[in-house]
Amino acid sequence: MKKRENKVECSIKHIAFIMDGNGRWAKKRGMPREFGHRQGAEVFRKIMRRCCELGIKSSTFYVFSTENWKRPKSEVNAILELLDNYLDQCEKEVMQNDVRFIFIGDMSVFSNSIRSKIEYIEKVSENNTYIANLALNYGGRGEIVYAVNSLLNSGVEKISEDDITNSLYTKESPPLDLIVRSGGDIRISNFLLWQSAYAELYFTEKLWPDLTAKDVDKIVENFQGRSRRFGGV
Ligand code: IPE
Ligand code: IPE
Ligand code: MG
Repeated sequence: MKKRENKVECSIKHIAFIMDGNGRWAKKRGMPREFGHRQGAEVFRKIMRRCCELGIKSSTFYVFSTENWKRPKSEVNAILELLDNYLDQCEKEVMQNDVRFIFIGDMSVFSNSIRSKIEYIEKVSENNTYIANLALNYGGRGEIVYAVNSLLNSGVEKISEDDITNSLYTKESPPLDLIVRSGGDIRISNFLLWQSAYAELYFTEKLWPDLTAKDVDKIVENFQGRSRRFGGV
């Protein structure tokens, strides 16, 4: 069951996606923004599957930021409903893809119903091989504050870089190799601020719902051609 097809050589251990452009994709089609989010969710599933097929140990997806609550209530509700429906039917796919779901962000704001579905899928998938971090009510600054507060609560007197790395929501994942942002904007939007210190960045004009598995292959190829020096020569 866990054999991978189309396995190509891929040195990426942790890739992250800022899935941007759903709203514009819908607008271009004269449709409401919610339509773009629906299509975006389908594309998320395809891209996640491709990352597993390529043998990428960990992938992180920016689903909803701590700033996205500023959007109209109707759009926020539509996104939450999509999430709720997805949680209802993702188990089979998650298990088939051998993926472990980890939700990163502050889940305390969500309804009991959503939270228990999240806990359930995290639990049933916890022994799977590949990690998919789903960033929900997530902000990079908030994550660092969360990590520091966890350390303070544990009674430490001095905090090292490793302490922070190991207290972040992404502590189960290898160091971040690459951040991909769709939608044409060249910014990080409060995503993985600590982890991105030496990550490679890849920006594409393509709107998220237009992204394909082939695009992931191209992105991986582009990454393999880069020279990462980490400050060395
Ligand atoms: C990303 O697409 C999805 C979320 C932020 C939830 P957008 O909804 O930001 O799409 P654009 O950027 O407005 O096109
Ligand atoms: C980033 O996209 C957040 C997600 C993809 C979930 P935004 O659309 O919220 O980012 P900005 O507002 O353009 O910076
Ligand atoms: Mg956007």
